[in-house]
Amino acid sequence: MKTLIRDGRVVTAVDDYRADILIDGEIVSVIGAKLDMEADKVIDAKGKLVIPGGIDPHTHMELPFGGTTAADDFLTGTRAAAYGGTTTIIDFAVQYKGEALLQAVDNWHKKAEGKTAIDYGFHLITTELEDNQIEEMHTVMDEGITSFKLFMAYPGVFLVDDATIFRAMSAAGERGGLICMHAENGIVINEIIKRALAEGRTAPKYHALTRPTIAEAEGVHRAIAIAEMAESPVYIVHLSCADALNKVREARDRGILAFAETCPQYLFLSIDDYGEDFEGAKYVMTPPLREKWNQAELWKGLKMDDLQVISTDHCPFCMKEQKELGRDDFSKIPNGAPGVENRVPLIYNGGVVENRISLNRFVELTSTAAAKMFGLFPKKGTIAVGSDADIVIFDPDKEQTLSVKTQHMNVDYNTYEGKRIRGVVETVLSRGRVVIEDGEYKGKPGDGQFLKRGTCVAI
Ligand code: URP
Ligand code: ZN
Ligand code: ZN
Repeated sequence: MKTLIRDGRVVTAVDDYRADILIDGEIVSVIGAKLDMEADKVIDAKGKLVIPGGIDPHTHMELPFGGTTAADDFLTGTRAAAYGGTTTIIDFAVQYKGEALLQAVDNWHKKAEGKTAIDYGFHLITTELEDNQIEEMHTVMDEGITSFKLFMAYPGVFLVDDATIFRAMSAAGERGGLICMHAENGIVINEIIKRALAEGRTAPKYHALTRPTIAEAEGVHRAIAIAEMAESPVYIVHLSCADALNKVREARDRGILAFAETCPQYLFLSIDDYGEDFEGAKYVMTPPLREKWNQAELWKGLKMDDLQVISTDHCPFCMKEQKELGRDDFSKIPNGAPGVENRVPLIYNGGVVENRISLNRFVELTSTAAAKMFGLFPKKGTIAVGSDADIVIFDPDKEQTLSVKTQHMNVDYNTYEGKRIRGVVETVLSRGRVVIEDGEYKGKPGDGQFLKRGTCVAI
């Protein structure tokens, strides 16, 4: 099957030109001006942006967490991602305590296999790593899972001690692997939470007030210091505030291999969104939303490359029956929020339309940088001859209103409800197949393939 995308404005992290693109099967085969070639399908992209499919390297489909399970499974979540112009996700397999690393990987393969609308990879959440498990960690890497998430938060669930962090960083680093760090001092936070509850402070807003920015900054500082001692790179996930960003910036200025992502919620929402009542549970995520002034600092970080990636940390829980678990106690509200469908258009609007970043940087932050960081480039993350034909045709002028009424994420609210933005995903191709066209999903479960990733090429 050959598809010709005609006369679009092709934008990658570095290019910006008008061209036709011929796709042969799953791969971009020819790029040129006014191609005179036969195709089975022709897509007119005049007046549209033609960009690489988005890569969201931080999602949690079907994650069992906080006494319930994230509301999107690999089918609904990846379909919603496709609607929003994302053609690759990297989700998280979980190794529970006492479990073999390879068992965890196998469990997550079973959850995702045959279900996904787009291609996917896994990081591995590692909750135990003794010396005798290092070889197994390397086997996991050989199987294409080259990054591991460790938690300094959630004591008794995911938290690991500094010795484990050091071991994991050393062992991953030795083979070019990457540790993704949830950096927050969860031990101190738990004490602050206990105090708040004892004083009768139970509303959702106390989730934010018990997780100060200094707890995140301390985690980031410690993660980077351990990485430095382990002589390995580190990637800070869901960085939310200026205090934490300053730690990354200081390290990078010293030449340390510290990388970080932020998420749309920290760029567009703030602590004010919690309000006083239970509606604020919609925004209970970790780290929490911060004071509004942090947003400008994060945009500055994105512009100056102290932050390299924008992911979503998509981890949706419905208000009904799920967030409600914490109606009388904020610490029992499952942590997480939806976003995988909204990321690409939100960043286009808030970044490019509102003049904070260039069009090329928008592509880099939503696609290319993640491909390089997580060993997928140049198969993914760009439009080039030989790359996978993961392509989004994006209308830069059309407007949309984000709403639970029109979204495809399997959750009963949208964190950006009523927000009017410019930029609409029109057509999405995943390895050459049209999966979204005229607002309709054209694919089927299982179209997506597991991606055996290589190692980071961002360094
Ligand atoms: O609130 C969040 N972020 N939930 C998902 C788990 C995590 O920490 O990434
Ligand atoms: Zn996390
Ligand atoms: Zn997460």
